[in-house]
Amino acid sequence: MIGGRNFDSEFSVFLKELKERSDIVEVIRSYVAVDRKGGNYWACCPFHHEKTPSFAVNEAEQFYHCFGCQESGDVIKFVQEIESTDFMGAVRILADRAKMQVPESNFDTEESIRKKKKRDNMAKILLDSARFYLNNLYSGDERADAHLEYIAKRGLSPTTVKKFGLGASLDFNSLPEYLAGKGYFKEDLIDSGVLAVSEKNNRMYDSLGGRLIFPIINAFDEVIGFGGRVMEKTKFAKYKNTKETLLFDKSKTLYNVNLLKKLKREQPIQEVIIVEGYMDTISLYQAGFKNVVASMGTSLTKEQARLIKRYTDNVLISYDGDFAGQKADLRGLEILDEAGLHLRVVPMPDGLDPDDVAKQGADAYQKCLDAAMPLIDYRLHSLERNYDLSKTEGKRRFIAAALKIVKTAESESVKEELLKKLRDKTNVSYSALERDLQNAKSETEEREEETPKEKLAEAAGTDKQQKAKRFILAAKLFSAPYAKELSVDELPLTDETHIIIARYISEHESKGERIRPSELFELLDENSAEFNAILDLNYGERLSGETAERFFADSVKTLRLEAIEKQIAECNAQYARAMDVNERKKISAKLLALVQKQKELKRK
Ligand code: UTP
Ligand code: MN
Repeated sequence: MIGGRNFDSEFSVFLKELKERSDIVEVIRSYVAVDRKGGNYWACCPFHHEKTPSFAVNEAEQFYHCFGCQESGDVIKFVQEIESTDFMGAVRILADRAKMQVPESNFDTEESIRKKKKRDNMAKILLDSARFYLNNLYSGDERADAHLEYIAKRGLSPTTVKKFGLGASLDFNSLPEYLAGKGYFKEDLIDSGVLAVSEKNNRMYDSLGGRLIFPIINAFDEVIGFGGRVMEKTKFAKYKNTKETLLFDKSKTLYNVNLLKKLKREQPIQEVIIVEGYMDTISLYQAGFKNVVASMGTSLTKEQARLIKRYTDNVLISYDGDFAGQKADLRGLEILDEAGLHLRVVPMPDGLDPDDVAKQGADAYQKCLDAAMPLIDYRLHSLERNYDLSKTEGKRRFIAAALKIVKTAESESVKEELLKKLRDKTNVSYSALERDLQNAKSETEEREEETPKEKLAEAAGTDKQQKAKRFILAAKLFSAPYAKELSVDELPLTDETHIIIARYISEHESKGERIRPSELFELLDENSAEFNAILDLNYGERLSGETAERFFADSVKTLRLEAIEKQIAECNAQYARAMDVNERKKISAKLLALVQKQKELKRK
């Protein structure tokens, strides 16, 4: 018995050996920096935010305890927590690390057996589909010509195509037909994400119909999903990915992690290059840069950072163009830092992505890599492009902006180094720059000062309101019981997608007809990001339970307040325009009533 689980004896023996081979200090060290002090090892707790270490690792007893947040456990618990996985997930990760095979028969809760079975079925379907797509590509079917031509146009060799298992979907029907012949359950076919059901005729179709297929494979060599690219300009999104499933969670996956793992078996990995896209990955790999993975478009997540930490401590960010201007992406980079990864940024020629550069040859990309620099240097480097340093005016403005960035440097020595570079670039004396730096405000200070409070509140409000609208629409769409009383007609909607959804709900409710979210696929582009954000809320029980109910009530309040605020603003404008005394009286009475209503709402 371990942790309330019943294991057969083979598994118990395995587990004992696994723990023996998984030294807790070493395992924890692969996620966070660990220091030896006194008889114990100490780290900054990875489970809560802190600057001074209160996370202790006891080597002799092989357990950890955080004095800050009271988390404690053994090596398996640690991996469970840090990888946000379950017991068996942690066992698999540790076994993989210790190069041990997990025995087939393990523990025997009904739930786990059912879940494992489901997972296996889905994995089989995905693998089968990957093979099917792959065969299509070289089947001689003339519909695959478009795919082959496209692959050739993008400069991918047959070896590369095979290495990445690229495939072709030729239409919407042949995959369901093929899979039907294999005896899979309909439910599993749909849950795996490869097929979807048409509401029109209730038939299943290939979710990536007609596209060029990029299988997404995890570190255990399982196909967990696909990316599908259109090969010419259409109104559909360029790439469509498998929906989120039990196997596929984009935020926990890195494209090409499977080959990265193989690479690590052959040689130690000094650094990993992180790119944005499928094609960037494949092109770099083909050009000989095999230590590459893609975040698949989104800004990096904690889970992705941890995944990388298993392979290396050094990361090279190789994103497209001027990503440093985008806040979301900078946040992704902070996450790398928090995971204890050392990071440098690869500068790209204007407007090109790694795929474009790699196409010019390995040397061209190697040059970019050689120029990789710390983030703060990169930000100064990309800033420079916006100014004409040959003109006095341009130079002055550049210096002012650059000093704001220098001010954020973490140490005095880095500041000094950056100032020297700035001096060489601008021919302004070091001492003058240094004095100006003293007076300059850092970016953060400036943002707080220059942005009026109301403006900040407004920006936060918009985001909050957006979330509220999405949540309410999702709750209505999936018929959450707590949402029954609310009428969507009273929502202050402006987004076109929201309006279409609300109209659909309202029409169906007034006729007493059942609301079927899938019917909206006919009204909305299935790739609409906004629609997807709303549908996403239905995954993982996010719409049920007490928290959801509370969030719903809060959301309604937020939007009612928004509506009233709008009315108040309108009234104020009317008042300002009105010339007639009587009219003004009328408006101010209305205004008063509105303010009263607003107060009541706020009190609730
Ligand atoms: P990019 O738009 O940078 O495309 O998206 P790319 O990788 O350069 O693609 P090509 O060269 O035009 O083929 C980067 C990544 O973002 C995700 C994909 O993973 C893509 O590779 N993405 C992008 C989507 O999931 N959906 C989209 O509609 C676009
Ligand atoms: Mn590209």
